Amino acid sequence: MKFLSSFPGQELETTKAPVRQKLFWVIIVSILAITILQYQSDSSSKFHELYRELYYFPILVSALRFGTRGALVCLAVILFTYIPYIFITWHTGWAEQAARIIELFFYLLFALGAGYFVDREQQIKQELERTRFVTSLGRITSSIVHDLKNPLISIIGLLDRLSRGKGDCRAYVPVLLQDAKKMERIVYDVLDFARPVQIKPELRNLHEIILSAIEMCREKGQKKEIKFQSDLDDSIALNVDAFLIERALVNVISNSIEASPEQGVITITLKKKDGMASITVSDQGPGMDRETMKRCFEPYFSTKSSGTGLGLPIVKKIVEAHGGAISIDSPPSGGTVFTITLSDQKTF
Ligand SMILES: Nc1ncnc2c1ncn2[C@@H]1O[C@H](COP(=O)(O)OP(=O)(O)OP(=O)(O)O)[C@@H](O)[C@H]1O
Ligand SMILES: [Mg+2]
Repeated sequence: MKFLSSFPGQELETTKAPVRQKLFWVIIVSILAITILQYQSDSSSKFHELYRELYYFPILVSALRFGTRGALVCLAVILFTYIPYIFITWHTGWAEQAARIIELFFYLLFALGAGYFVDREQQIKQELERTRFVTSLGRITSSIVHDLKNPLISIIGLLDRLSRGKGDCRAYVPVLLQDAKKMERIVYDVLDFARPVQIKPELRNLHEIILSAIEMCREKGQKKEIKFQSDLDDSIALNVDAFLIERALVNVISNSIEASPEQGVITITLKKKDGMASITVSDQGPGMDRETMKRCFEPYFSTKSSGTGLGLPIVKKIVEAHGGAISIDSPPSGGTVFTITLSDQKTF
């Protein structure tokens, strides 16, 4: 499967590329600025020595951000700009020149030393990331297999009875259908996470989509006697992919049901706010601690024994593909509030 071939840290690296590029240019410009200061100052003045010490900053920043290779490239730029200065001021005497050349040697040692520690740190981080990924992969695979196994056993058992002429076909069909749908949901969750979201937008009334999502979750809620309360503005129509938005809401509401106490109340609202449509889903569960709040959109993160941890990452993917945003609030009084905002002006 496609999602198995990448691990979380990789995505992050590509999104940081423009920042790294900017930093690279900042480093180059700062080296040039320091060099200009060098060329303008009197070669025997204290200022000149001070400016020379400033070169350690771009080397350090390059090493921290780009490792040994970055530090060496930075040093090469420094040498390229500074060595002509040594030749121009050759007349200042051998002691002065020797001090400058020794300083260049220290730059090299500093670049190699700092780069080495940063590279090692990076390697350890990547190794940890890989280990975490492989561990999560094992957990996800066993969790997916476990989730698929129960409805599958039920389907095989019922079909086996029917094939032996036992049982009531009409009574079994709804159960078979329900089990098959359960399996379908698991398969779609994995697929939704693995492939890029393809939106097929159409102008739809949001409150209808929300009501449909609530209906889809009603049966799950019944087991805990959950009460659904809704306050929906029925005048909000947006260009959205109704199927995907419904899937996202089903995931959020399912989480709320799982977190709710018996006979808990889940409140769902839809309002216009600052030209946007704002959907909130609140529950009376235990809320989320800081760590969970920080990590819940991370793929494979789950605090549940049978959770795949793909629910919220899929929700985020769907909402962001619509140009919207999702946020969480977990007040100290308890409960969790998920807010999804979808833009009115978004043209697809
Ligand atoms: N309403 C909520 N209240 C408390 N914690 C929540 C709530 N919603 C999500 N979480 C936390 O966020 C985690 C990630 O949620 P997510 O939906 O991504 O995965 P999951 O529910 O564990 O598994 P699944 O893939 O079956 O949905 C959950 O394990 C849970 O700890
Ligand atoms: Mg979930």
